[in-house]
Amino acid sequence: MIIKNICCIGAGYVGGPTMAVIAKKNPNIKVTIVDINAERIAAWNGDDLSKLPIYEPGLADIVKETRGKNLFFSTDIDKHIAESEMIFISVNTPTKTYGKGKGMAADLKYVELCARNIAKVATTNKIVVEKSTLPVRTAEAIKSILHNTGNHIDFHILSNPEFLAEGTAVNDLLNPDRVLIGGESEQAIESLASIYRSWVPNENILKTNLWSSELSKLTANAFLAQRISSINAISELCEKTGANVSEVAKAIGMDTRIGPKFLKASVGFGGSCFQKDILNLVYIARSFNLNEVADYWEQVIVMNNHQKRRFSDHLIKTLYNTVSGKKIGMLGWAFKKDTNDTRESAAIYVADHLLNEQAHIAVYDPKVPETKIQNDLNYLNTRSEEENLKGITVTLDPYEALKEAHAVAIMTEWDEFKTYDWEKIYDGMKKPAFIFDGRNILDKKEMETIGFEYYSIGQ
Ligand code: UDX
Ligand code: ADP
Repeated sequence: MIIKNICCIGAGYVGGPTMAVIAKKNPNIKVTIVDINAERIAAWNGDDLSKLPIYEPGLADIVKETRGKNLFFSTDIDKHIAESEMIFISVNTPTKTYGKGKGMAADLKYVELCARNIAKVATTNKIVVEKSTLPVRTAEAIKSILHNTGNHIDFHILSNPEFLAEGTAVNDLLNPDRVLIGGESEQAIESLASIYRSWVPNENILKTNLWSSELSKLTANAFLAQRISSINAISELCEKTGANVSEVAKAIGMDTRIGPKFLKASVGFGGSCFQKDILNLVYIARSFNLNEVADYWEQVIVMNNHQKRRFSDHLIKTLYNTVSGKKIGMLGWAFKKDTNDTRESAAIYVADHLLNEQAHIAVYDPKVPETKIQNDLNYLNTRSEEENLKGITVTLDPYEALKEAHAVAIMTEWDEFKTYDWEKIYDGMKKPAFIFDGRNILDKKEMETIGFEYYSIGQ
């Protein structure tokens, strides 16, 4: 099938950057991203490119180059489904918050709605590409919905999981380690492969069956998260034994079988994928009665929750067992640097715990607005919205957040935090002045020379 029009349903962290890069590299294909969220589409279409709905280094330049030429953003979902030969489903698949599988399984209602929408409006043959992270055998459900419409249209389903990481999405898309395409129809796979071949070497395009492709995505995220939980488990042991987790990570990472990446001990991993995908994996394993498999992967989450909890416990204990009425300056709210995404960020859980202990928290994050921070806390439902408003102040100036604070908690590894005037910060804080560096970004000796009581992870 020759692809001239692509429609992507879902203008989020996956759909936005992925389609922008596909459009840039395939000027002959018209790519339209559609979404039910009109505000989001308006923001993608806005004149001020610094206000795109997602912040991702390098993305605004690509949008500037392609928007209005062969990249479009629209709320007219039906029209663009109807006119496209290939449709990507890039909608959110959060963990279920209700019913069977609550707190574990992926909620597929948005994906199913997309499939029904495609079934409703399609009048010509379509290739439907799963881009969202999905449980294994979801393609089966999509297939069943599409094939039972009775309008005799040929639908081919492909799984093409996204491996980009936020903060480096553009580079990950431009130089992917691999592109994975799972499917049953050789021709449909080839149609998608040819789009990627515009910039990805053929040998990096991997073709598998549908189920291998779907399971590979969950497995890749589970392995990556497992490495973080593994090094975080060792970080706690380092703190007891006098070993330094950075030295241990370097020493083991030089073993080429282990490799140096993803071994940074931290206050705990966040993001929309790791926890959701592992819970999903655990749920699937249990549904097949594979309890040992499920227990094994569940420990990655148990360890991550422990790491977040022990960070805030340690902070409270060090501040003489009480933070009640004390100001804690929090640097960073995003789940990692170079993104405005806060989903599952460790900062949310640490702040929630400190608020339970009646701390007053002042947050500064270079990219996350106050409304998002309040929403994240309100979503936990731990206390009333009024109490969250009272407990948290969000500042636009980092020095303001740290002024008169008893302690600084570093939650995100934003580069700018390293270059602050830490002497000035020290002078403005209550004494003794504590730093709890959840990302190990500052220099211990330097901070101690200034006068800080400095704590980091695994040192
Ligand atoms: C992840 C996968 O990397 C990506 O391939 C997949 O497509 C989506 O999920 P993402 O969640 O965007 O990407 O970011 P990632 O860089 O993986 O970081 C996830 C979390 O782990 C962040 O909170 C990060 O700070 C933390 N992390 C990462 C560590 O604590 N230590 C590390 O060594 C690496
Ligand atoms: P991801 O990180 O997976 O990209 P996001 O939440 O950032 O997740 O983006 C998913 C997008 O999908 C949201 O903008 C949401 O409005 C959109 N969406 C969800 N369901 C539908 C639907 N049925 N039709 C169109 N868009 C949808």
